[in-house]
Amino acid sequence: MSQDIYLVATISALLGVAAGIPAGSFLRRKKTSTARGAVRIGASTVSGRGAFADRAIGAGDIIERCPALEVADKDVGGELLNYVFYGNAENLRLVAMGYGMLFNHSPQPNVAYYREDSTLGAELVLYALRDIRKGEELFYNYGDDWWTTRK
Ligand SMILES: C[S@@+](CC[C@H](N)C(=O)[O-])C[C@H]1O[C@@H](n2cnc3c(N)ncnc32)[C@H](O)[C@@H]1O
Repeated sequence: MSQDIYLVATISALLGVAAGIPAGSFLRRKKTSTARGAVRIGASTVSGRGAFADRAIGAGDIIERCPALEVADKDVGGELLNYVFYGNAENLRLVAMGYGMLFNHSPQPNVAYYREDSTLGAELVLYALRDIRKGEELFYNYGDDWWTTRK
């Protein structure tokens, strides 16, 4: 009788290990893209990561509202400078949260943005300049100044 219990316990343990190995590797599998709302982040067609339409987006639709933090330009340096927006004064920069900082540049953009301020703080609102198909990469125009002030 006790031998039977020992056998059942051993088989259960082996089955647990056998089931755990594939489950563990599935949970650890690296994702190549991540999505929220209408935006998917994936491998860009122009550089590193980029933002893509995760569904069809109509002209004028708001794509994302990014809560934003306005900080002094002296608080932003190095590579982060390539990710922030201009603030409301020469010496201010806007750090947009969400996916807003990951859109790449195009001189023929399909996205534009504007700033909105409320009692909660600043928001960067990204919207579609035209109808956008699911899967298209989303670009806004960084502006000439952005490129001429960098190497
Ligand atoms: C705000 S980030 C955009 C996300 C970036 N691609 C990433 O992988 O994190 C700005 C940087 O993306 C790159 N970038 C954006 N638009 C580009 C373009 N049209 N061609 C080449 N590089 C671009 C530049 O290196 C720039 O410094």
